Amino acid sequence: MSTEITWLGHSCFSIHTGKHTLLVDPFLNDNPLAPLKADAAEADFILITHGHFDHIADAVSIAKRTSATTVSNFEISEWLGKQGVKDAVGMNHGGATSLPFGRAKLTIAHHSSVLPDGTYGGNPAGFLLTLDGAKLYIAGDTALFGDMQLYGAGGLDLAILPIGDTYTMGPEDSIEAIKLLRPKCVLPCHYNTWPPIEQNVKAWAELVRAQTKAKPFALEPGGKITV
Ligand code: NI
Ligand code: MN
Repeated sequence: MSTEITWLGHSCFSIHTGKHTLLVDPFLNDNPLAPLKADAAEADFILITHGHFDHIADAVSIAKRTSATTVSNFEISEWLGKQGVKDAVGMNHGGATSLPFGRAKLTIAHHSSVLPDGTYGGNPAGFLLTLDGAKLYIAGDTALFGDMQLYGAGGLDLAILPIGDTYTMGPEDSIEAIKLLRPKCVLPCHYNTWPPIEQNVKAWAELVRAQTKAKPFALEPGGKITV
């Protein structure tokens, strides 16, 4: 079964597996580049990498409206429960959970993770997703780290990596990440939302083509790919 991935700006993605819709890091209403508002977002599952507002801002409203299950680290799942989210799955690094869409493993990320109201958000994370027909790695907000080699060892159809620099790895380190992960395709995120993370995504794609075997995609917000 093919998997369709739509970039909704910043680190927000909609993943359609054919049977389920996964929404990753919902940040729509306050994102100047988002192609839709939170009240138009669809979700059966909402995956949250960490507690920063630019990843979780619209998670509670969308989860309440759609009755989606949230998937995050344990501390964030507890916080979501206190905000009235009914079905919040919590995990921790290295742990995986089988859900109706497939298997989700919480991966390490080198970053920070306080929640918007100042609550401790646990450790930041990424996701390794085994879907029906596709294996995806969503790095989350992170620096480059050598264990990415382990995450790529089982083969990846797609890696979603931040390239914005300043708050996460930048373009050069993303090339090293791609060399470690060895995905078939790579989608960049966490860039151009604000001036401190402005990047030339066409130049980044040229670097990927010149230095790695991965196929880079440079989408406009609202653009989609199929893997
Ligand atoms: Ni962050
Ligand atoms: Mn961020």
